[in-house]
Amino acid sequence: MKKNVVVTGAASGIGQAIAIRASQDGHRIITVDIQDSSETVAKIIANGGKATAYSCDLRNDGSVIDLFDRIEEGHGDIDILINNAGTMGRWPLNITETTEDDWYTIFDTNVKSVYLCCRQVLPGMRKRGCGIIVNIASELAFKSAEGCTIYCASKGAVVQFTRALAVEEAKSGIRINAVCPGPIDTGLINPTLGEIPEDNEEQSFSQTALKRLGKPEEIAEVVWFAASEGASYMIGSVIMADGGVLAS
Ligand SMILES: NC(=O)c1ccc[n+]([C@@H]2O[C@H](COP(=O)([O-])OP(=O)(O)OC[C@H]3O[C@@H](n4cnc5c(N)ncnc54)[C@H](O)[C@@H]3O)[C@@H](O)[C@H]2O)c1
Repeated sequence: MKKNVVVTGAASGIGQAIAIRASQDGHRIITVDIQDSSETVAKIIANGGKATAYSCDLRNDGSVIDLFDRIEEGHGDIDILINNAGTMGRWPLNITETTEDDWYTIFDTNVKSVYLCCRQVLPGMRKRGCGIIVNIASELAFKSAEGCTIYCASKGAVVQFTRALAVEEAKSGIRINAVCPGPIDTGLINPTLGEIPEDNEEQSFSQTALKRLGKPEEIAEVVWFAASEGASYMIGSVIMADGGVLAS
């Protein structure tokens, strides 16, 4: 059955790859981003898929309520929600160099947005007795990275939010899981402060057992599996796709 799939943070990187992957199975894709995600939609439509772009700052309660009202009015029930939007904020910064704004930027984007989006889709999913949510966390939920302490904490919060909510919603037929990417070749891995060191890419991938960065498409495959019927016995699972960083 063809489904309505909402992918947040779908203007670029991993979110764009997830949206394209999901569209290949014939589902209607609803892209959401604070930036223009029409490039993602154009790519899907060029390949014969169905997609619509919505703009929203997912940190804002009222904007998220309005977003889901508009999506449901335009397309009906939401079957699958992929909470992928995220930011590393300003980095690298030692914790004593950060401000309260840094805290809110990172936590509101990475954690509050997941809460707000889940809160909007769950009533409909409960009513229908089915629904799937996949939250994108990070390997940095489980390990440290210099100058990124707030980001690491935010991804730890996404993991535990996923686990707690998954158990609560399982009785309503809703499956919620998290995927933790390792270093993936997107703009996110470039420090936002100071020069991007020439060996930045090497530093990121040197920690992987594969000695390379992951591709957004490699994460999209894992996410799409977690969203599929093949993952029917997975509830509150935290799926690593990190090129072996944590195992090393
Ligand atoms: N790239 C990596 O190495 C890596 C590793 C682990 C986890 N992740 C996670 O994967 C997800 C996708 O990251 P990416 O690497 O594709 O980076 P990206 O910067 O390409 O994508 C993030 C997207 O989120 C959107 N976004 C940011 N703030 C938003 C807001 N307030 N409202 C709506 N949209 C907003 C951005 O506009 C962007 O399109 C993030 O949650 C990130 O933390 C990435």
